[in-house]
Amino acid sequence: MLPPAIAADDQTLAAAAERVMSRCDRLACCSEEAGAVTRRYLSHPMQEVHHTVGDWMRSAGLRVRVDAAGNLIGRRPGPEGSRVLLLGSHLDSVPNAGRYDGVLGVLAALAVAELLGAAPLPFHLDVIGFSEEEGVRYALPYLGSRAVCGGFDPAWLERCDPSGVSMRQAIEAFGLAPDKIPEAAYQPDEVIGFVEPHLEQGPVLERAGLPVGVVSGIAGQTRMRLRFLGHAQHAGTTPMHGRRDALLGAARMICETQRIGAGADGLRATVGFLRVAPNATNVIPGEVELSLDVRHPEDALRRRAVDTLLELGAEIARELSLGFSVIDHVVQEACRVDPRLTSMLHDACLARGYDAPMLPSGAGHDAAPLSERFPVAMLFLRHPGGVSHHPDERVDVPDVQVALGVLLQFIHLLAESESQ
Ligand code: GLV
Ligand code: MN
Ligand code: MN
Repeated sequence: MLPPAIAADDQTLAAAAERVMSRCDRLACCSEEAGAVTRRYLSHPMQEVHHTVGDWMRSAGLRVRVDAAGNLIGRRPGPEGSRVLLLGSHLDSVPNAGRYDGVLGVLAALAVAELLGAAPLPFHLDVIGFSEEEGVRYALPYLGSRAVCGGFDPAWLERCDPSGVSMRQAIEAFGLAPDKIPEAAYQPDEVIGFVEPHLEQGPVLERAGLPVGVVSGIAGQTRMRLRFLGHAQHAGTTPMHGRRDALLGAARMICETQRIGAGADGLRATVGFLRVAPNATNVIPGEVELSLDVRHPEDALRRRAVDTLLELGAEIARELSLGFSVIDHVVQEACRVDPRLTSMLHDACLARGYDAPMLPSGAGHDAAPLSERFPVAMLFLRHPGGVSHHPDERVDVPDVQVALGVLLQFIHLLAESESQ
């Protein structure tokens, strides 16, 4: 049994879950595109999200700040000198996203802070909304969480988005000071850990008929930008034989990516972005930039797949008389979750009546970079239909209610453990 100060009855939890859902609906309106959810790093609608969520946080009695990387943080203070539990997820989205990826975890964390009311805890609780997880604007994921774990590379500030705005300019335009990003880092000895509630983004819990699961690990990923260089020429006058068509090279590369990705259990390989120049109907494509996203729970297998794909790219380029190069790449190794926090999360599920399965995550999460510096654990919520990075993303209110009960129970177990 929870002590009365931390307990919440079913009716209170149900009302809190309804509030989380209506807040997700409200934030879905903060978008770069009417009628769709698109919210990239430091975009205008992210300002609106910060105002709105910041107001909710302040009403819950949290001390609100935005760090120099654009992370929104609301602190529920504990005793002076105590450590901090980070709870939350990210506030950015992919283009034409659903309304729950990331946002659900932030709003669930805020709901937990609200449910806790004035209950004394032996630690600070920081509800955190990371500014950038998806990597859409600068082709670099986890910018917010990398700043929080001290892994933000200042060279990234000079990168430009597709419209030529550097990250430094974007941060300044958002009203923040890029040179203060190192101050966003938490020190390992001040952090108990990071717990991230998130939609499963897959079918496992739905098939098992269970509302929640506990994450056993997160697949590592390599993201690259590649370039094929050919020769732009007249589409009507240049014979088919001997053309140097960069898009033909990219097309073959996409086919190889599918073939290699399908060739090993658990491997995922995707080309999701193309930039074609000059991108005109009557000109042979002279240059193509394409993305490559390769993931697997085993880092060695992922690395081998990436090496194979790069060799294939070079071979395609030789056959078609093209140039081929890697513009840049970023790696996130597979994430190990913390055994103590993870089994505490599992115990919290059991105490609420759910024998939650342990399941791996193929999707990336802020917990992955954070795991390099702090203990992390993740709670997955059942995802009806399992479709994510798409407007059809769904979550059911009763499952949010279960998750809130589990998170509250987890806080209780952690408070007990930290008081010993
Ligand atoms: C983020 O959702 C990712 O898995 O890339
Ligand atoms: Mn996502
Ligand atoms: Mn996410």
